[in-house]
Amino acid sequence: MSEMRTLGEFIVEKQTDFPHASGELSSLLASIRLAAKIVNREINKAGLVDITGAVGTENIQGEDQQKLDVYANEKFKAALEARDQVCGVASEEEDEAIIFNKELNKNAKYVVLMDPLDGSTNIDVNVSVGTIFSIYHRVSPIGTTPTAEDFLQPGHKQVAAGYVIYGSSTMLVYTTGNGVNGFTYDPSLGTFCLSHENMMIPEDGRIYSINEGNYIRFPTGVKKYIKYCQENVPEDNRPYTSRYIGSLVADFHRNLLKGGIYLYPSTLSHPQGKLRLLYECNPMAFLMEQAGGIATDGINRILDLDPQELHQRVPFFVGSKNMVTKLQEFLEAHKDN
Ligand code: AHG
Ligand code: MN
Ligand code: MN
Repeated sequence: MSEMRTLGEFIVEKQTDFPHASGELSSLLASIRLAAKIVNREINKAGLVDITGAVGTENIQGEDQQKLDVYANEKFKAALEARDQVCGVASEEEDEAIIFNKELNKNAKYVVLMDPLDGSTNIDVNVSVGTIFSIYHRVSPIGTTPTAEDFLQPGHKQVAAGYVIYGSSTMLVYTTGNGVNGFTYDPSLGTFCLSHENMMIPEDGRIYSINEGNYIRFPTGVKKYIKYCQENVPEDNRPYTSRYIGSLVADFHRNLLKGGIYLYPSTLSHPQGKLRLLYECNPMAFLMEQAGGIATDGINRILDLDPQELHQRVPFFVGSKNMVTKLQEFLEAHKDN
């Protein structure tokens, strides 16, 4: 037990990775940790209290808001506003970025973009869900009102990113650009403990994760790659295994640990794919690259894309290096259809 390290201790220890660190990022991460515990508590009793199901409203993207979407959004916002490091937040559940105007937040350096509850339709059926977060330095002058520019930065400018997975156990996984570390929540202590140090995704994997129900609507390159995954080539470990939960966080987490590829391509109904660049793809891409994998929209590195709007969607392919590289060959060979 003497070697056990909590998330709080780890963050403080790693603070020196940043040459001018003054503890602000640590404090910001602490507020995310706190909100994660609160949301975790609520998710755990979801079957007992009246918090499952839809609220009856839609978010700006026309998706039904679930009660826990709204709850998680409020808790993360409140936790981030309560400390003085964050000047504004963008969220899947908010049409526009929220600007914190309190005296406390006036000199804040950071903006946060988040998907407060990912995979929320899975809540009602007791399947894993998550929270995704992405942190940037603001680019507009400190002390002024944050602008669109602060929120629309390319992913390679992220200072930190991570997710919380509320699964068979709850974990927080994050990076500040020096590798990826995972912490498992011990509910009896109320503490996240370092359980997965320096996470690296295997270069080869044999899991592919995609909503195959949409097969008929996929671009040809993706269809051909799926057929490649299903071919009987035992010496190459094929056919691969298909696993798809429908919560990006959970699918990503499994593939990160075991090796695999996650695909959400463009489809006829979602010509830009479904996942959102700023608070789903960018943070996951940062984590994946830090873990030795690749994240692409099929043509460009996700982290190099220049965001045009807050809720922008992009096709997303992410996972083990050799698997994503193989997929890219298929996409390149069939790029005209
Ligand atoms: P959210 O619950 O935040 O709207 O995200 C749902 C996303 C993602 O988590 C998941 O991988 C994907 O939607 C599943 O989409 P399909 O149901 O179209 O497969
Ligand atoms: Mn999501
Ligand atoms: Mn969501």
